[in-house]
Amino acid sequence: MHKILTLNNISPLGLQRLPREQYEIGSEISDPDGILLRSFKMHDMEIPESVAAIGRAGAGVNNIPVEAMTSRGVPVFNAPGANANAVKELVLAGLLMASRNIHGAMRFAADVEGDDAAISVAVEAGKKNFVGSELPSKTLGVIGLGAIGVRVANAALSLGMKVVGYDPLISVQSAWQLSSGVEKAVSLDHLFSQCDAITVHVPLIDATRGIVNAERLKMMPKGGIIVNLARGGICDDAAVLASLDSGHSHCYVADFPTAALLKHPKVLAFPHLGASTNEAEENCAMMVADSVREFLEDGTVTNS
Ligand code: MLT
Repeated sequence: MHKILTLNNISPLGLQRLPREQYEIGSEISDPDGILLRSFKMHDMEIPESVAAIGRAGAGVNNIPVEAMTSRGVPVFNAPGANANAVKELVLAGLLMASRNIHGAMRFAADVEGDDAAISVAVEAGKKNFVGSELPSKTLGVIGLGAIGVRVANAALSLGMKVVGYDPLISVQSAWQLSSGVEKAVSLDHLFSQCDAITVHVPLIDATRGIVNAERLKMMPKGGIIVNLARGGICDDAAVLASLDSGHSHCYVADFPTAALLKHPKVLAFPHLGASTNEAEENCAMMVADSVREFLEDGTVTNS
């Protein structure tokens, strides 16, 4: 019997991949062989010596002490691509909301009080105050051309946007085979200087921390949209705040902004919703449950 500790809710479809005759699963299991989790921060937790494999039902693994686990010989499995469509859809929603000023307009509409005549007056004011712009007139910079970035790039192309891509981590050549029609930036600076909107799809590691910074934001044309549904530290939030306040940037779409940005009128904030669809939760849970099971049962390593 294998014992699996769950540190977050894991979709039942994933847990069904671990047959009950062979697996004991729960959130209070002691001496587990495997751990399944989503965003639980494992860095401060004492990880039992019994643990032989960890499965993260998502793409990022920065909530797990991967180096320490690797030195113990414990593989950390993730679910690459399993939530990519969900993230792509929220990026598109964010771009559309930002370019049509939907978040400000909704707040404005919710605050209107009075009779039909008062509403008519407010409608006229709203039409003047919330004039938007259309995506085909814009160039989107996609930073990171893995499973999510490539989907975002292709979807943006199909909306009529011009798309420029760059990947600071993988060879542009291998990314390029996946993203036809996307123009290639020779550097991040090159990308920022030609894009009205940028979206980041890289993990948070030393090489990507703060790559969206004050200098690069200034390279963008006025009215830029910054989308970060990846990880907080990739954007320098102080620089983003300054750029929004100066009127240079138009909107920051973020899945987890810092306190200073959370209530800012030009910030469209989500509570880490990028991967939160039923489909993505199921896909991720099934993929990591399979990886952990295969490793525990026959030592096979996939997606670590
Ligand atoms: C990811 O890294 O894919 C997401 O953080 C997943 C999640 O929201 O659990």
